[in-house]
Amino acid sequence: MKTIHVDTGRPYDVLIGNGLIEDCGKLIREKNAARKDAVKAAVISDDKVWELYGEKVTESLRSAGFETLKLVLPNGEESKNTDNLISVLEFLAENEFTRSDLIAALGGGVVGDLAGFAAAVMLRGVDFIQIPTTLLACVDSSVGGKTAVDLRAGKNLAGAFHQPRLVICDLDVLDSLPEETFKDGSAEVIKYGVLADPRLFEHLMDKGLEFNREYVVSRCIEIKRDVVNEDEFDTGKRRLLNLGHTLAHAAEQLSSYKLSHGKAVAIGMSVFSAAAASYGICDRLTAERIREAVKRFGLPCDTDYSAEELYEVMLRDKKRNGSSISIVLPEKIGRCIIKKMDIAELEDFIRAGL
Ligand code: GLY
Repeated sequence: MKTIHVDTGRPYDVLIGNGLIEDCGKLIREKNAARKDAVKAAVISDDKVWELYGEKVTESLRSAGFETLKLVLPNGEESKNTDNLISVLEFLAENEFTRSDLIAALGGGVVGDLAGFAAAVMLRGVDFIQIPTTLLACVDSSVGGKTAVDLRAGKNLAGAFHQPRLVICDLDVLDSLPEETFKDGSAEVIKYGVLADPRLFEHLMDKGLEFNREYVVSRCIEIKRDVVNEDEFDTGKRRLLNLGHTLAHAAEQLSSYKLSHGKAVAIGMSVFSAAAASYGICDRLTAERIREAVKRFGLPCDTDYSAEELYEVMLRDKKRNGSSISIVLPEKIGRCIIKKMDIAELEDFIRAGL
């Protein structure tokens, strides 16, 4: 088992290895991730994940002395809404969940974000642990303490920074993922190569979907850890992690979330890299390599949405500040910049990448 330590205001470990889910109760105790006087552990999950791992997690928590509660939501982005947030909070309150108890988020990014946000606001903040079950959640959303739900006006518009007490990243869960879900997570993995690690990028180009899971998952988490350690509250460097995401969120919203997050990020990285090459921020070869990587993983590079449609949605993006917006662009593989762009220039910039 590998341990990556995250040194945020309240530090915690990310554990990476095989067969960790069965031992989650023991690991929580060993790592002091729950308070000594914790009685209850509320497992929040989705129907697909619960079927696969719910019983194992429950059993492990019970053998570690927890009384368990279970709340299962429908799988999918549509679940990440304020109604479900309130349902989780009401459920916890009805079950006399106290400040010393623990929430366990068992699932992908949707469950992790929603359960984490519930943990941030329940009784003004309770402990939670992340047990990610998708590649995307392992390498990105479970680490760093961003929690949120979607609002009608856009994705992740209500949320809080609330760090987990422990992240248990069981590599075996990746074997149970449908290929489409695994490909989806690969978009975030490519993102980390483009952001910070040419060697990781080349490994991905070389191996495609057969990449070395322990190496790649660990490397992505280390890169994220380094960024989050420096900028926990997303006021500077952490914005780099939004590579591909500004356009992605717009495309996801335009598709009413039928377009998956990973595919949208793949499109976002490809389109903004092509635009960066047109504006001389990176060379053509860099943009071409990013498109090749996206294609290598069977992910899309292009979208049918027009520059105008994407622009209209981006106007409501969280990263907009008055008349400017911060976008992330590659300079070369392994180095990206945050560019503050006048909102009036954005539509033409998107058009240059389409
Ligand atoms: N997923 C981007 C971040 O955690 O900042």
